[in-house]
Amino acid sequence: MRILPLELPRFIPSQHEVWISEDIQEYLRLIKANFQASSWWVLTDSNVYQACYPRFHRYFNQDHQLIVIPAGEASKNLQTCQTIWTQFESFGADRNAVCICLGGGMISDIGGFVSSLWKRGIRFIHLPTSLLGMVDAAIGGKCGIDFLHGKNLLGQISLPSLVVSDTSWLESLAERELKAGLAECLKHGLVADETYWRRLAATNFKEQEWEFVVYRSQMIKAEVVKTDPDEQWMRKILNFGHSLGHALESICLESGVSFLHGDAIAWGMKVETKLAMEATGLTSEHVSQIVAGIDQFDYPLPLLPLSKETVINKLIYYLRNDKKNNQQAIRMSLLSRIGKCEYDVEVKENKIREVLEMDPFIASL
Ligand SMILES: NC(=O)c1ccc[n+]([C@@H]2O[C@H](COP(=O)([O-])OP(=O)(O)OC[C@H]3O[C@@H](n4cnc5c(N)ncnc54)[C@H](O)[C@@H]3O)[C@@H](O)[C@H]2O)c1
Repeated sequence: MRILPLELPRFIPSQHEVWISEDIQEYLRLIKANFQASSWWVLTDSNVYQACYPRFHRYFNQDHQLIVIPAGEASKNLQTCQTIWTQFESFGADRNAVCICLGGGMISDIGGFVSSLWKRGIRFIHLPTSLLGMVDAAIGGKCGIDFLHGKNLLGQISLPSLVVSDTSWLESLAERELKAGLAECLKHGLVADETYWRRLAATNFKEQEWEFVVYRSQMIKAEVVKTDPDEQWMRKILNFGHSLGHALESICLESGVSFLHGDAIAWGMKVETKLAMEATGLTSEHVSQIVAGIDQFDYPLPLLPLSKETVINKLIYYLRNDKKNNQQAIRMSLLSRIGKCEYDVEVKENKIREVLEMDPFIASL
C-alpha cells in the first residue's frame, strides 16, 4: 500500500463578520457594494415575506430573485430544497450568485444548506429576523434540514459570508417567539456569564434591552464556537437544557402537539439544573435561583395526552438515544455553578426518574 499525504490549503472560508445594526439603508448599501454578485437571491418564508420583506425591498433596490417558502418547520425538508435548487437552475444562479437568507432559524438552516451545496457552494448572507435566529441559528455555521422523522438529520457546518442582526425586525415577531428565543439567551448566561444571567433574570420580559441581549449572546456563542467549531469538547456546553428539552420536543412531535423549541429548552434547563445538584455539586441555593429565574418568564408547557408514566418512559427512551451519549451511559452538559458548565457528565437513569417524578409539570400529567 502506498500512502499519499494530501494536505490542502484551507480553501473554505473560515472567517466572517457579524454586524449588529439598525441602519438598514447603510448595511444593505454595504452588502451591495462589497459583494460582487452575478445575481442576488432572497430566500424568505411566507410570514417574514409579509412582515419584513416590504421594508427590505424598499432599501435593497437591486435586481434579485425572490423565493418564498411556507413558514414553519415543516418546510425544512428535501422537497423544499429541490424547489429552491430548481429555481436556482431556472434563473441561472452561477458560482458567483449570493443568497440572502431573510428569516428565522428555519430560513437560515435551509438557506445555508441549499447555498452551500449549489454548484459546490455559493455565498450566503444571514439576515436573521427572529431572536432565536439572531442569538443562535445564524451563528456558528451549522445548517441543515429535517429528514424522515429526524430533526436536522441532513446538514453540515458551512459559514455564511456575513450575518447582520437588526433588532428592529423583532418588532413584528410574536411575543411567544421572542420569549422562546430568550430561553437560549438565559442558557448563554447560565453556561458562560453569571453577570449576564443575573441581568436577564432581574429584568422583566417587556423591559429586556434586545440590542444588548443579541450582542452579548452572539458574543458568547461566537467565542465558544471559535474555540471548538466541530463540537468535540467545549461547544457541548451549549447543549445545556437540550437533552431533556429535545426529548420533550420529540414526544410533542410524535404526539402531534405543537411546542416551541425555546419553551422546551426552558423546561429542560430546570430539570437539568436539579440533576446537577448530585452530578456536579451545584448548590441548592443556585438551583433555587435558576428555577425561579426561568419561572418568572412563564414558559408554556405542552398539553400532552399521555400519562405521567408514559412520558417519563419516553423521555428516558429519547435520552438513551441522544447523540450526546456514548458507551450506553446517559451524558449531559450540566452546570457546576451559575456561569460554568461541564460536559459529558454521566447521569444515572434512576436519578433522572427520581427528579422527573418530582417535577411539577410531570406530576401534573
Ligand atoms: N443552526 C443552528 O445552530 C440552529 C440553532 C438553533 C435553532 N436552529 C433551528 O432554527 C429553527 C427555529 O428558529 P426560529 O425560532 O427562528 O423559527 P422560525 O424560523 O420558524 O421562526 C419562527 C416563526 O416566526 C416567524 N418570524 C420570524 N421572524 C419574524 C419577524 N421578524 N416578524 C414576524 N414573524 C417572524 C416565522 O415565519 C415563523 O413563523 C429550527 O428549525 C431549529 O432547528 C438552528
